[in-house]
Amino acid sequence: MKVITSIQEMQQSMREQIKNGKSIGYVPTMGCLHEGHLSLARRAVKENDVTVMSVFVNPLQFGPGEDYESYPRSFENDQQEAERAGIDFLFVPTNAEMYPRESSFLLKAVKRTDVLCGKSRPGHFDGVATVVTKLFHIVMPDRVYFGLKDAQQVAVVDGLINDFNFPIELVACPTIRELDGLAKSSRNVKLTSSERREASHLSKSLRFGRSLLQAGERNSAKLRTEITNLLQAGLSKGEIDYVDVLTYPELAHVERAAGRMIVALAVRFPSARLIDNMIWQEGEIDDANDDEC
Ligand code: PAJ
Repeated sequence: MKVITSIQEMQQSMREQIKNGKSIGYVPTMGCLHEGHLSLARRAVKENDVTVMSVFVNPLQFGPGEDYESYPRSFENDQQEAERAGIDFLFVPTNAEMYPRESSFLLKAVKRTDVLCGKSRPGHFDGVATVVTKLFHIVMPDRVYFGLKDAQQVAVVDGLINDFNFPIELVACPTIRELDGLAKSSRNVKLTSSERREASHLSKSLRFGRSLLQAGERNSAKLRTEITNLLQAGLSKGEIDYVDVLTYPELAHVERAAGRMIVALAVRFPSARLIDNMIWQEGEIDDANDDEC
């Protein structure tokens, strides 16, 4: 595995691969790698001739007072894990490499961002769209791998790829979970042991929501209330940021659940804010989110 820090060197390496007719699979990350990231990496390795992973904690997508400074970083371990997963190129730029001067342009995501994390974290998806656009131009991949753990991010990046005609296929991969159902996240390492115990209520509440949908409940407001009540009962340290039931990937509110819906929630613990979701497809018994990548 080759570790590259320079944009120019990355682009040169990728041009060479493209010239040789190789397909490029790409997994963008902010590091502190866990099984969620590695499942994307393994799938990319399986489906492409050459694979790239990037590790870059993007300051643009963190708001004031958020955890940019304290976001967990573990480069040595990331390097080992990426190599073990079969990644060929690890791109690890510095801030100065990615943002050498004040930007002349910033992208603004105008759809699919007035709800969920877009609402709670104003500007977050503008920062994601901006860095992802830069990374796409640097890596020039054929396929990019994103996790449905961040389903709103998948919806926003899907809009970005379509609007700006990136010749890239977006591959959305299922959420990888701990044994008790907690979605794997780089931020889980920040939780205290009592917060960690409480955190299992996020996925429990989502499973409850799914069971209501499977039993025929279609009233979105009622689903939201029932899920909120169950989640609230399981929390003492955590505070609910949002619980919502929306169409997916459009992320629109509808009175009655139909077609493809997302049930999504976010909880602020003193040590970390956690998100999780479940996608429900009318007429489908299995939840695609639970399949292995
Ligand atoms: P990060 O949070 O590091 O996540 C990188 C990728 O791993 C994302 O596509 C995310 O959805 C996926 N992922 C995280 N946890 C997962 C899990 N439990 N199961 C499956 N996939 C999981 O998302 C970002 O970084 C950044 O916003 C980024 C896209 C890199 C732009 O800065």
